[in-house]
This record gives sequence, structure tokens and C-alpha cells, in this order.
Amino acid sequence: MSIDKIFLSELPLINGVYIASEDSDLENQSQTNEIFSHKWIKYSQEQIEEQERLFKFQKEWYLDLYSFENEEDLAQYLSDKEYVLDAGCGLGYKAKWFADLSPGTTIIGMDFSDAIFVAATKYKDIGNLLFVKGDIADTKIKDNVISYVSCDQVIHHTEVPLKTMQELTRILQKGQELATYVYAKKAIPRELLDDYFRERTKEISPDDMWKMSEQLTLLGRRLSDLNIEIEVPDIPLLEIKGGKIDLQRFIYWNFLKCFWNEDLGLNTSISTNYDWYAPSNAERYTLQEFLKMIEDSNLENSFVHSEEACHSGRFKKK
Ligand SMILES: C[S@@+](CC[C@H](N)C(=O)[O-])C[C@H]1O[C@@H](n2cnc3c(N)ncnc32)[C@H](O)[C@@H]1O
Repeated sequence: MSIDKIFLSELPLINGVYIASEDSDLENQSQTNEIFSHKWIKYSQEQIEEQERLFKFQKEWYLDLYSFENEEDLAQYLSDKEYVLDAGCGLGYKAKWFADLSPGTTIIGMDFSDAIFVAATKYKDIGNLLFVKGDIADTKIKDNVISYVSCDQVIHHTEVPLKTMQELTRILQKGQELATYVYAKKAIPRELLDDYFRERTKEISPDDMWKMSEQLTLLGRRLSDLNIEIEVPDIPLLEIKGGKIDLQRFIYWNFLKCFWNEDLGLNTSISTNYDWYAPSNAERYTLQEFLKMIEDSNLENSFVHSEEACHSGRFKKK
């Protein structure tokens, strides 16, 4: 399959992966790449059974986040697209999903971490799928050539998310859509801890961050096992919402990310906590801030979704 039509120049192919950019000169982006390389390689080697559960959960969530009624609806949507970019594809399972759903479409998975080599090896036999190591903030793709960009749970990990969004818009064909997602801002005590701690993570090794993520997961599980609901008053100045809430959720949303999900399993829960605290780049947004970025990228809203954890949607290039 030729990709010369869409990239600005010919890309070297190493171990089944086209190389658009090797690594970042920026300290935070480079640390973020290292963290995701560590996470995805560890996860893919050790958690074969949990992986399938995570992938299934993520695909179902994807349909909600971007307003596809079901898989058939997504397949129908993709069917007339020539080139689709999965921007920040991680282990590549969503890119593989798109490739299966739309055999006539060429799917390009791009990621800046070494997870891209794991993806390329795992899915080497899929004819309409290829993988590129590169920076989604500087894709090296021509203007107006991509018919759908999916950037799911990634843009807030890039150095300047607005610039990344503008780059993803640049490569889109006019009238086509970018599907994207950002982390939502939480209550003030949690935001303060997250910002303060993220500065320190630069000094901590990936292995130590993994250990801390394990401790947070055990705390989350312990709190969840208590199965206690409390009635909380509204504390608007600290952005703490009142009402009846499970104790673990109360602490989670307002003070400390201590994720635990029994259905996903222990190691997926640990890797979710690791995802949160380890990368230096992990911006959060109010809905208004997110929509302002959309406007500043010359995109218009096709569909907007908002929940406690995130804001997402599909946005059309004007
Ligand atoms: C939370 S993961 C999401 C992966 C995938 N989209 C999914 O939904 O499973 C974030 C991914 O973004 C990638 N990433 C972060 N900054 C990037 C950049 N500037 N260019 C390409 N990928 C990037 C990371 O390497 C990581 O694999």
C-alpha cells in the first residue's frame, strides 16, 4: 500500500513502521513519550486477558463519545472515507477496528511512543492498516487529504493542544470531521494536587510511578469495597458538587485519582492511574475552554458530549 499520496516526503520504514519523527526535542513531550512507551509495552506483554476486556470497553465507550449508534453506524460512516488517521493510536486496536469495519479505507495509526512497534507487529497482516511513528502536532501529512481524524484521549497529552488541533484540521478535507476528546477539569482540591504532583513526576522513574499507581489502585479498591454512600453538601467555591455519592467516587472526583474498576481488572486499573499521574503533559479543560479550542481551529460542532471525566465530540472542517 502506498502512502506517498498523503505524506509530504517519502518515509523510512523500520521494523514495519514508517518513521515521520523519532522523538521530541521538548522536555515534557519527550517524557510523555517515554511514559507511554513504558506503559504500553508493559501492558501488552503482561495483560493479555485483561487487554481484550479493556479493548471491548473502550470500543463501546468510543461509540458514545462520538455519537455512533452502534458498530454498524460507525462502519457505514467510515465506508466512503479514503484515508482515516487514528492520531495517537497507542497499541493500535482502534485503528484495527476501523480497518475491519471499513475494508475499502486505508487506516493510518500514528503514535509518538514505541507502542507503535507493538501495534505494527500485532496487526502486520491487515492489508488496509499501516502504522507511523510521529508527532500528531507535526504529522508531515499534506493539506486536506484525510477524510476522518480520530484523536481519542490523546490531544491533552500533546505539548500545545490547540496547535495540535489546528494541525489535525489542516490535514482534514473540507467538510470532513475530527473526533476528539479532552480531560475535564475536576474540583479545585483535585486540580491542585494534580498540577502540583505532575511537576514532581519528571523526577520519578516509570517503575516508581507504576508502584504508586498500584498503591492508588489498592486504595480505590479498599474505599469501593466499603460500599458507603455519603450525603455531601454543595461547596461551590471549591467546585465540589453536593448530593448522595459513593465514598470512593467522592474522593476520586474531588481529591485524588484512585481509580478502581472491578470489571476491567487490577492491572488495567493500575495502568489507568499510571496514565493519569505519570505523563508531564495532561491538560484539563472546562467545556467552554474546549469549545473555544474548536472555534479557534476553524471547526464547527457536529456533536458535543460532556461527562464528569471528559468532553468529546465530532467537529467539521469549515
Ligand atoms: C491515553 S493513550 C490513548 C491511546 C489510544 N488513542 C486509545 O484510545 O487507546 C494516549 C496516547 O497518545 C500518544 N501521544 C501523546 N502525545 C503524542 C503526540 N504528540 N503524537 C502522537 N502520539 C502522542 C501516547 O503515546 C499514547 O499512546
